[in-house]
Order: sequence, then structure tokens, then C-alpha cells
Amino acid sequence: MKTKTSFTCSECGYISPKWVGKCPNCEAWNTFSETAKETSRIKGRVRVEPKDVKKLTIKESSKSAKRIPLTMEEANRVLGGGILEGSITLLTGEPGIGKSTLTIQICDQIAALDKKVLYISGEESQHQIAGRAKRLGIDTDKLLFLAETNSETILESIKKEKPDFVVIDSVQVLFSHDIQSTSGSISQVRYAAELFMEFAKTTNTPVVLIGHVTKDGNLAGPRVLEHLVDTVLYLEGDRFHQFRILRSQKNRFGSTNEIGIFEMGEKGLVEVSNPSAQFLEGRKEHAIGSAITVTLEGTRPILIEVQALANITPFGYPKRTATGYDVNRMQLLISVLQKYAKTNLSNQDIFVNVVGGMKIKDPSCDLGVLMAIASSFLQKTIPSDTCYIGEVGLSGEIRAVSQLDKRVKEAKKLGFKNVVTPAQVKDIVSAVRAL
Ligand code: TYD
Ligand code: MG
Repeated sequence: MKTKTSFTCSECGYISPKWVGKCPNCEAWNTFSETAKETSRIKGRVRVEPKDVKKLTIKESSKSAKRIPLTMEEANRVLGGGILEGSITLLTGEPGIGKSTLTIQICDQIAALDKKVLYISGEESQHQIAGRAKRLGIDTDKLLFLAETNSETILESIKKEKPDFVVIDSVQVLFSHDIQSTSGSISQVRYAAELFMEFAKTTNTPVVLIGHVTKDGNLAGPRVLEHLVDTVLYLEGDRFHQFRILRSQKNRFGSTNEIGIFEMGEKGLVEVSNPSAQFLEGRKEHAIGSAITVTLEGTRPILIEVQALANITPFGYPKRTATGYDVNRMQLLISVLQKYAKTNLSNQDIFVNVVGGMKIKDPSCDLGVLMAIASSFLQKTIPSDTCYIGEVGLSGEIRAVSQLDKRVKEAKKLGFKNVVTPAQVKDIVSAVRAL
């Protein structure tokens, strides 16, 4: 039988017969690695029989699969109302962000419903996991544990044990002797995911796979598994800030529009049910270079403080950096401000920071960011009961945003009397002049 070596891109799974430096599919550099030898197909060897097709209708009783509700409402919302039986979920995020912490807390909540929960770790020892669970106040007697990295051994163990819920931490450390590549490689990761998916579907057991992503948000894993699993959850945030956001990137059984907000504390992840109030906590009244805006995360409006610092540059080339905000978008706002509001920012270093470690992508925050920059440059304070909503266009106009009513309502609820919206102020010149 013929054998063939192929090379696979760790970003998108593209297969090439020879090694290439740049992926012709996703254009990523240096992502190809040698994958398992594939046996070439031999035509006509296997005979297949046709199967009977049937009507799409299903029986009433099996229409809605059962969900296991969690006590964390924030997590329930993202999942679409709890963990669906027989579903396979991939939880990803940067190392150290809190994936293991979140899953052990979920395990505890499921075990409290008198369900058999099995936590499988290939990364940490029993001692480490138990230590963490204890610190979190979890009853470790209620959880089952297995330290293993061999995919087949894990599969046989869970088949034997028959738990109601399984967590595998993490998919990157799994390996199978049937696959001739190292653990963490595309073929190992994909093979393991397929194995556990089959298990989840045939036994109706929900499985959560944990997978790490690297700094740039990719890795052999999450990307190639996305189409396989039912749900992909991202745990995001800044390791040095307390806030964590659980976001669903894909959800076959719910909306991908919802997020869950948590705070990492001594007792693990704690739900934040009133994020606006939390994000504004500790805000200095009448500060220069600080503006409040409203971002829409899923269906929820959240008030956020944006800080800016404009300072004369000691070098010829001004420095512009942004934390939690797209630096190119910030450059654009600076350009607009410079051209239309007659502010000479060409010799200014400008820094923008979104408070609380949140990342904002919503264009309706443009005006808030722009006003924070203007406030710092002009050394004028923004009244602490003022908040800005609006997208900034290239000719300095303030454009309408989606779901304005919802945003305004949230701002009013938190005591903002003056909510500047595109309906009131048509261009940035008048907004800046009002400072
Ligand atoms: P962890 O869940 O191990 O991250 P991951 O599995 O995503 O790699 O969490 C790691 C960080 O969380 C670690 O730096 C310590 C912090 N942490 C807390 O702040 N409070 C806690 O109660 C726990 C368990 C962890
Ligand atoms: Mg971990």
C-alpha cells in the first residue's frame, strides 16, 4: 500500500504535499508541519450499501434535548440556558486566563445536581487540581479525577465510568499511538476531538474540551476544531485585570450574541451582574482626558471609561498606542480631530486606555475615544454626568448607531444626565466646542 507524507497548516488546516513557508489558503507564515502518513485510497475495495432516508419530522418527546442548568447565570446565558446533553464544547483562551478555574467551578455546580462529574487533566496533577478546588471551596469528594494524556485510555475510562459530564484539560496534551505525530499537532488534536465527539453523541454525555490559544489568538487546535464541535467559547480578558468575558464564537444550540462577565478573585470567577457600575467604579470625577461611552456586548449595553493622554513628543515621531482599542481606529480619530476640529496633534504622543481590561470594538464608542483625546489635549474636563455615543465618520460627522435607545437607557439608569448622541450633535466640531 502506498504511503504519503503531507504538510498541514496549523492555522487553517490546509494540506500541502510539500512544505511551504506561507500558507496559500490563509496566508499565515511558518505554520506548516509534517502530519501523519496517509494511506492512499484504493478504489473499489470497500462495498457500501445505501441507507434508507426518512422524513425530517421528529417525535415530540425528543424535540428538545435536556440542558443541565448552571448556577452561574452569566455562563447559562452564553451557553443558551445551560449545558446541553450530548453536546461537545471547546473552551479556549490564553494560558492563565482562568479556563481550568471556570471549568472546575462548572463541575462543582453540576455535581451539586447529583450528577457524576469527571475531570480529566493531562496538564496538572491531582494535587494541583484538588488544591485549587479546595481554595475555591469546592467539595472535592463529589468530583472524579483522572490524570491521563492518552486519548484511547481516556475514552475507555469514560466508557467504563459512565459520567454525566466530562471535562478534558487540555486537548493539546492528548496523544494517540495511532497517529504518528507529536501531541498538540493538528492530526492529534483533531483525532482526539473526533473521538470524544463520537462519545458525546452516542452516549448523550456533554463533554467540554479545553484548548489554549497563543498570544495572536491562534494555535493548532481551536481553529481546526471549530467546525467539529457544537460550541466554541472564548474566555477573554487581561490577566492583570480582574474582568473576564466569556464569549461564544459558535453555538449550535444558542445565540452567539451573548457574553458573560466575570471577575477573577480569591474565590475564582464571580459573576458580574451589573457590569456598567463595576467598570465605572473608582472613576475620578472631573478628570481630564476621561470620557464615558456605551458599548453593546451582545444584547447588553455596558458603560465604559476611556482614558487618553496627549503629551508633547520628545522625539520627532509621535508615539500612539492603545490598550483595549484598535490603534488604527485611534489614528483615524486623531486625523479627523486634527483636520476638522483644528487641533494640532501632529507633535503629540497619544495613549488611549480602556479601563478595566475590556476590549472595545463597537464603532459607536468612536465619539467617546475622540472626546477623551480632545479633553486631554485641550486640558478641559468632561462633566462627570456626560456620556458620549456615536460613530465618527471621515468627514467629521457623527453617525447614527444601532440600538441607541437601549444605550441611552443604561446611561440614564447609571445617573448620566447628559447623554450626547448622534441625534443631538451632528459633527465633532460642535462636540469639541462644547467642552
Ligand atoms: P487557570 O484556571 O489555571 O488558567 P488556565 O487554565 O486558563 O491556564 O487560572 C490561572 C490564574 O488564575 C492564575 O494566575 C491564578 C488565578 N486565580 C485567581 O486569581 N483566583 C483563583 O481563585 C484561582 C483558582 C486562580
Ligand atoms: Mg489550565
